Amino acid sequence: MSEAVHPVPADFESRIGPAELDALNHRADTDTDGFWLEQARRLDWAKAPTRAGNWSFHEADFGIRWFEDGQLNLSVNCLDRHLAERGDKVALIFEGDEPGHTQRWTYRQLYEETCRFANLYRQKGVKRGDRVMIYMPMIPEAAAAMLACARVGAIHSVVFGGFSPESVAGRIEDCDAKLIVTADEGCRGGKRIPLKANVDKAIALCPRIDAVVVVTRTGGEVAMVEGRDIRWSDVRDTLPTEAEPEVMDAEDPLFILYTSGSTGKPKGVVHTTGGYATWAATTFDWVFGATDRDIFWCTADIGWITGHSYVVYGPLMNGATSVMFDGIPTYPGPDRFWETCDRLGVTIFYTAPTALRSLMREGDAPVTKHRRSSIRLLGTVGEPINPEAWEWYWRVVGDGRVPIVDTWWQTETGGILISPVPGAIDMKPGSATKPLPGIKPLLVDANHQVLEGATSGNLCLSHSWPGQMRTVWGDHERFFQTYFTAYPGLYFTGDGCRRDEDGYYWITGRVDDVINVSGHRIGTAEVESALVAHPLVAEAAVVAIPHDIKGQAIYAYVTLNAGESGSDELRKQLNQEVRQHIGALAAPERIQFAPSLPKTRSGKIMRRILRKVAEGETGGFGDVSTLADPSVVDQLVAGRNS
Ligand code: PRX
Repeated sequence: MSEAVHPVPADFESRIGPAELDALNHRADTDTDGFWLEQARRLDWAKAPTRAGNWSFHEADFGIRWFEDGQLNLSVNCLDRHLAERGDKVALIFEGDEPGHTQRWTYRQLYEETCRFANLYRQKGVKRGDRVMIYMPMIPEAAAAMLACARVGAIHSVVFGGFSPESVAGRIEDCDAKLIVTADEGCRGGKRIPLKANVDKAIALCPRIDAVVVVTRTGGEVAMVEGRDIRWSDVRDTLPTEAEPEVMDAEDPLFILYTSGSTGKPKGVVHTTGGYATWAATTFDWVFGATDRDIFWCTADIGWITGHSYVVYGPLMNGATSVMFDGIPTYPGPDRFWETCDRLGVTIFYTAPTALRSLMREGDAPVTKHRRSSIRLLGTVGEPINPEAWEWYWRVVGDGRVPIVDTWWQTETGGILISPVPGAIDMKPGSATKPLPGIKPLLVDANHQVLEGATSGNLCLSHSWPGQMRTVWGDHERFFQTYFTAYPGLYFTGDGCRRDEDGYYWITGRVDDVINVSGHRIGTAEVESALVAHPLVAEAAVVAIPHDIKGQAIYAYVTLNAGESGSDELRKQLNQEVRQHIGALAAPERIQFAPSLPKTRSGKIMRRILRKVAEGETGGFGDVSTLADPSVVDQLVAGRNS
């Protein structure tokens, strides 16, 4: 790995320099509760909290609560509080799939649209604590639909538009959603996505939804079910533009977001109101430090945590202007990002390493033909950034004049945990640098030993922070088992990590059976169960292989029922099976038919061997004596190359 050090450019304007960062760290360490309560005071509370954290990671008294005697409404914090001074300021800039298909929504407009949605929810009987599903493109109405949930105290669950109807149905069922907000169709890279038709298919599989609200995005023809489906355009103008906000307890759930783990079906990660809001607002301020002059563009979809925290909640709580982009980096051409940055005057740009790698391939010209002079800060998220991509981002996109924040965090963490505070810390390409104030990472080895100094190990956190997830929806025991049993008393992230002699953290990637494809988390178990759903498949095992653009890709081993043989046609069907059960994002890069899988005598699949074979290795498999049938390995190697 490159160990180059890039000092912060001298003319970078920042409220937090090295001395201020030291002071924050000192405060967090010496007056922890006071420090956290001070961060909470960024918000407007109906009743200010007097307690900070009240948590334990130990089984006997396990629980995580923050600011528990406080009360607030998050939509008030995102909207109402800005109306007096920033009512006419642009809150959201919608940038559609076609360049220049742009809309600017002021804080007042977003407030009114949110209240309209809130009134519709109430008309439809949605009450505090009910679940509302949002399956939408990146349009401002999607943000309003989320904020309206917060306003009436409903719990939203946003599902990424790339997930299949079956995935949507699974999530409806798991969280028992009452109402869905969707759009007629999505439109990305010139292609239509049949969102409403997918919702219909999902409800056919799981008929418990009372109402479907359909916002017009493309104007495409969609079927409407009498008595259930409501066109937003038919009702919008009849709905009042004021709606009383529900006063929520800090620990009332705000949203559920499904994410893949190493076992079983996706987990509904639950975030609550006061702590999540505090953490999204605080980290947005520390890491991006947007002022009234900034235009902030996070390219993530609202279907992921990054879109929740840094397209919608973080920017809006801070009164910033946030871009909602409903397109892809390469449409209509590989200069889309930079052309859009110039046209909209973007000052802070935050994207995923996979997008940068796909653009790097196209050379520098698509970047350099645009000025990019408005950009003053760049960021990345979602996966490790290889130093080569970092250097390209720095040198070509940033002209070597703007800092880069490589932000490490997870759906579970609610907001950024390890990242440069730009202006306060030198950067090393490929390192997320150091933990934010109040965040306590530890590296631990397989024997539960906490490792000191420059070393590598599994990344854990010893202390809670306000944005930590509180539970798995409907399965608190699974929450404890998943995160707190590998290293008792610690939260285990699932990531491996190196710490260097300067105390910088270098995330090396997942150490569990989670695959990070283009920054999207895919659980091996989910893909495997989609593959075995095919009637000819006896068994399947999937592993990650390195991929130049996606970071990792999925390599699947499939064992067929006795007497069956593999073919390209069957590969297509299996691919289709994964798309149907999960979505295109989980489709395997390669499928190898294997007569059998390498298993120990107790029946455990040895993935270590599968990974090596997938990467093209033909030897050096280590100890294979525990395999029930060691000859399987040679068959796999032969099959890899055939
Ligand atoms: O492996 C880490 C990787 O993404 C995982 C979290 O995925 P998800 O919950 O989908 O959230 C993604 C957006 C926050 C982590 O466990 N990851 C995320 N950011 C980084 C990263 N790996 C290295 N460097 C990062 N900056």
